[in-house]
Amino acid sequence: MENEKAVLKIGFVGVGTMASAIVRALISYGSRDMQIFLSPRSAERTKKLAAASENVHVAASNQEVLDNADWIVLGVTPQVAEEALPSLKFGGNHHLITLISPVSLSRIKEMIPANIEVNKVVPLPFIEHGKGPILLYPDNKKINSLFSDLGHVVTVENEYQLDALITITALASPFYRILSEVIDWGSQHDLSVEKSADYTLSFFEALLHRAQETGTDEILDLWREMTPGGLNLKATQSLEERSGFSMWHDALNVVLDFFARNNSEE
Ligand SMILES: NC(=O)c1ccc[n+]([C@@H]2O[C@H](COP(=O)([O-])OP(=O)(O)OC[C@H]3O[C@@H](n4cnc5c(N)ncnc54)[C@H](OP(=O)(O)O)[C@@H]3O)[C@@H](O)[C@H]2O)c1
Repeated sequence: MENEKAVLKIGFVGVGTMASAIVRALISYGSRDMQIFLSPRSAERTKKLAAASENVHVAASNQEVLDNADWIVLGVTPQVAEEALPSLKFGGNHHLITLISPVSLSRIKEMIPANIEVNKVVPLPFIEHGKGPILLYPDNKKINSLFSDLGHVVTVENEYQLDALITITALASPFYRILSEVIDWGSQHDLSVEKSADYTLSFFEALLHRAQETGTDEILDLWREMTPGGLNLKATQSLEERSGFSMWHDALNVVLDFFARNNSEE
């Protein structure tokens, strides 16, 4: 990856849920010429990925992945990283991209018997469809450009910011719960689930679009745009009376505390 036209040689050590989603995304959305090398475990999965593109190859060992690639994506669990990394021979051409969100970069560097650059990339499963945020720390022009083909890259200034943004991903289930509650409410008011869902999803999609169009200087106040005495004011007041908004901060604090405690135990 020394110049923009060179073939990118990317290796994956650990081809589980996240790494295979990235490989599928690279096959579908990657704009660079690349050769992809996969570690041999999870044989069924790696076989399918290799069948999906002539540019994907299954290596005979983790070391063979390193011997063939310059960019090494680490997609194993923290415990496996502790066991597998110290015995791998890294060279001066290598640059490690760790997906292991709970383990700090300094801890990963301690596990590697060589002084190479390491960046953390935290995608979400939506990456498989070329969508969703992809966290990158520290920023790196080439990694940023590679992953920008696969989703929306967001860079941060330190690992605490990384943890704070990862905390927000815990709201996926609560978000779907809100959708479920609203759609269900409609179905209890003479609507079919289909009709209620059809309207609600289109409504929330439009709200999200509006929010995305709004500048960050106004985003915190978008909710204030409501008719005095109108429907939105009634709903806002009803939720405020029950601490229905401050409890979202509470939930995020609970998750961040849990995340920070677990990370420090790694
Ligand atoms: N899943 C997510 O949504 C997500 C999101 C962000 C970050 N992450 C991070 O990404 C990392 C991977 O997560 P995951 O969900 O993809 O995990 P996973 O599905 O459990 O994948 C781990 C992979 O590592 C393989 N493996 C085990 N021992 C190995 C070894 N010695 N050498 C090479 N490969 C080995 C496993 O193979 P076998 O199956 O054969 O044991 C498996 O394919 C984690 O550290 C996690 O923190 C995950």
